[in-house]
Amino acid sequence: MPTNGSLNRKLRMGLIGGGQGAFIGRVHATAAVMDNRAALVAGALSSDAAKAKASAPDYDIPADRAYTSFKEMAEAEKKRPDPVDFVSVATPNHTHFEIAKTFVEAGFNVVCDKPMTFDLAQAEELLKVVEKSGVVFAVSHNYTGHPLVRQAREMVLNGELGEINAIRSRYIQGWLRTRLESSDQKQAKWRTDPKQSGIAGCFGDIGTHAYNLGRYITGLLPKEISCVLATFEPGRALDDYGTALVRFENGALGTVTASQISHGRENDVIIEVDGTKASLEWHQENPNQMIVRKNGEPHRIYTRAGAGLGAAAGGATRIPAGHPEGYLEAFANIYTATYDAIAKRVAGEKFETMNTVYPNIYDGVEGMLFITQSVESSKQNGHWLPFRHAKLRK
Ligand SMILES: NC(=O)c1ccc[n+]([C@@H]2O[C@H](COP(=O)([O-])OP(=O)(O)OC[C@H]3O[C@@H](n4cnc5c(N)ncnc54)[C@H](O)[C@@H]3O)[C@@H](O)[C@H]2O)c1
Repeated sequence: MPTNGSLNRKLRMGLIGGGQGAFIGRVHATAAVMDNRAALVAGALSSDAAKAKASAPDYDIPADRAYTSFKEMAEAEKKRPDPVDFVSVATPNHTHFEIAKTFVEAGFNVVCDKPMTFDLAQAEELLKVVEKSGVVFAVSHNYTGHPLVRQAREMVLNGELGEINAIRSRYIQGWLRTRLESSDQKQAKWRTDPKQSGIAGCFGDIGTHAYNLGRYITGLLPKEISCVLATFEPGRALDDYGTALVRFENGALGTVTASQISHGRENDVIIEVDGTKASLEWHQENPNQMIVRKNGEPHRIYTRAGAGLGAAAGGATRIPAGHPEGYLEAFANIYTATYDAIAKRVAGEKFETMNTVYPNIYDGVEGMLFITQSVESSKQNGHWLPFRHAKLRK
């Protein structure tokens, strides 16, 4: 079978961030090549020029394509006969906008990590630039890549749960129970610094994932939001806990809780959806199972790649049921869906930009609006605020 459809070749990937000691860059690099549809060929891997060069062999990036800055990389790649087809942005939040905008304006497709930008104004501007350029732009809300999350979305959109009344999503961690940022732990340092993280801490870092998951599964359109954020570790500059209440257009209520101060909790992403005909429950720490319940009937457990799955889940799984798949495979599913679009763009074919399988620029903007309105509502003691962007996916 040809690789990447009529394009019939692997896509060339560039990576920004992911230098020695970094976290998510390596995940991007691993997930992006899992299905043999792309190869990592270039990178600007660190904000430190020496580290950027020194990190390149860890990824088999040749020395002449190991750049010391993303600007140098954009300039040099544009001039090559075999430039990268897309870049993945895996740097701290305050750098996303400038990096993404530089590559989009140069005509490159982009996979950007979340939260998409530092603030809403940057997100709105990036949206304009992306729409003007016509590039493919994905945002790595990776939990939407789990086969059973795709199954949940298909079941909700097919009406199997009936009208949706309630969404409860939570992302619970415990690693910031102490002031880890006072040590040299780099991931804690920038995440708790308003100059690098943005106006929110925990709510921007992981609350956005929890909100996005509910929106992705249900397609419900939001209307208003009320939120209370808290900082429980004395001296910390940003929130480390919070809950938002979202009222959707159809009258459904959603709660989004995010915590980084819950003892012993690791990456407990939980989503529960209540419909008039059935309810469902999924946990990312046990991602190969999803429970669907109906009053008066035995509970149904769907297993990844097991019986009774629809096309959306079937297309997102690689190995037989019972062999666990998880975080990396779900991340890779974001890439494969994005590649379908990138390959079409590179081959000059039409592709969908709004209601995509992968989270996109519109999800990124919505995430930034979620952060903005959550922080503002919390400042106003939980006052309800409008929460409806002009451009929203279903
Ligand atoms: N999708 C997810 O599940 C997930 C998980 C973790 C982090 N993230 C997001 O990924 C991003 C990175 O997080 P992390 O935990 O990997 O951070 P990190 O601090 O571990 O790594 C950041 C890397 O970016 C590099 N960098 C910084 N500025 C740069 C620049 N201008 N040019 C090139 N490289 C630069 C740093 O040198 C470092 O190598 C954040 O936006 C975070 O919110 C997403």
